[in-house]
Formats: sequence, C-alpha cells, structure tokens
Amino acid sequence: MKKLTLRDIKTTKGKKLQVLTCYDFQTASMLNQTDLDMILVGDSLGNVMLGYETTIEVTLNEMEIFSKAVRRGAPNKFLIVDMPFGSYSTIPQGIASATKLFQSTRAEAIKLEGAYPHELKLIERLTQTGVPVMGHIGLTPQSVHQLGGYYIHGRTESSAEKLIREARALENAGAFAIVLEMVEEKLASEITRSVSIPTIGIGSGNKTDGQVLVINDLLKLGPNTPPKFCTPIANLFETKKELIEKYLQEQRK
Ligand code: KIV
Repeated sequence: MKKLTLRDIKTTKGKKLQVLTCYDFQTASMLNQTDLDMILVGDSLGNVMLGYETTIEVTLNEMEIFSKAVRRGAPNKFLIVDMPFGSYSTIPQGIASATKLFQSTRAEAIKLEGAYPHELKLIERLTQTGVPVMGHIGLTPQSVHQLGGYYIHGRTESSAEKLIREARALENAGAFAIVLEMVEEKLASEITRSVSIPTIGIGSGNKTDGQVLVINDLLKLGPNTPPKFCTPIANLFETKKELIEKYLQEQRK
C-alpha cells in the first residue's frame, strides 16, 4: 500500500477519504497493514485512553508520547497529530508547539481547532514553514465550555453562514483539509461544495469528501455508549471481558 502524500490528498476532492484515530503502537501496527488513508492521533485520547472528562486536560507532552507510539507502529500511513488545548493560544506559542510536535513525532501534518483570526494567521505561518495543517470546525471539543455543550452546529442561518465563512477562510489560510464535526448534514454538503480542499466529516452526514471516526467508538473498546452517529462494528469491550472471565474460570479449575 502506497503512503499518501499531501499532493495525493489535495487531489482526492470528491473521493472518499477514510480516516481513523489511533493512539497506541499495536493498533497502529494493525492499521498500517490495512488500506486506511490516514491516521489521526486525536486529542480524543484524553477521553478514551486517559479517562479525562474533556479534551481540555490533554497536554503537549501527552500528545507527543501517544503520537510517537503510533508513528512507530504505522510508518506507512499519513499521520496527523492534534494540537492540544492551550498550546496555540497565541501565534508564537502555536508556532513553537506545532514545530515541537511535528518534529518530535515525525507526523506528516498537524490539526488544530477553530478559525479565529489568530488561528488563521497561525495556519498561514505554519504552512509557509512547511508544516501541513488540517482545520477543524463545527463542534470543536476544546471549546466545549465556551460553546455550552456538544450539539449539532449550523442549524441557524447565522451559524451556517459563519461555518461557510470559516471553511473558506481555512482554505485561504492554507489548510489542506477540514474536519467538519457535528455539522448539520445539508450544510456539510454545501461547505464541501464551497471549498476546493477535502472535507472530512464526523457526525455530519455522508456528503463530505471523507469520514473520520474514533476507533475506540467503532470497535466499542470502552464501557461508554459511542456517540449516536457511530454504529460500532464490534463490541470488543464485552468480547475481551468474556474472554478474560473464561480464562479466569479455567485457571480456577
Ligand atoms: O480528537 C479527535 O479524535 C478528533 C476527531 C473527532 C476529528 O478531533
């Protein structure tokens, strides 16, 4: 399987890009043997790997540790690493954090949430320096308290207009793709038609250029119910529990 390059990704508009999150060496080694297009080390690792309530608690150091493990397991995949909360609050800080993350993890790209002026400027600076950046709008979990919870975005006219503006601004700033998280389906489709870079949806319908899911939700690896938009393809939490119980019983005989 050929590893995708940024040039390949930029020409995939309209094709279905398949992205999954990953946080550890063994899962990365398995994904490395599939024809998945890209791996995202999301800051969702805070929720699923570290048991944090929100992604706000995730640190740059934690992102580095998990991303390096994934890189070691999946050398043949285009790897994107999330910039954690508080690591890009100003442009100089964002440049320093992104440079450190990009350099130490050997990822092909980084992702950051939002499209405020300083974030757009940061994307412009990073892409000019040689750091490819994926944007992320709609539900941006690092701003959950500012947003007032987890819900579908773009249901009102003003919120829809804002999202279209943000997507275009991200494209102009140099982002190579945009994650649309929990964006109203028709709007996600409209945004996809409004920009020339690929959109990657999560909980935003199936009209985006690609889809991303949290692998732990897809395989139901944890005790919590996955979000409504993700239909698990297995229940590995129960399967593993049953296997361990069976093993324990056999050992007691
Ligand atoms: O952190 C993450 O896993 C993400 C995806 C949900 C897009 O940002």
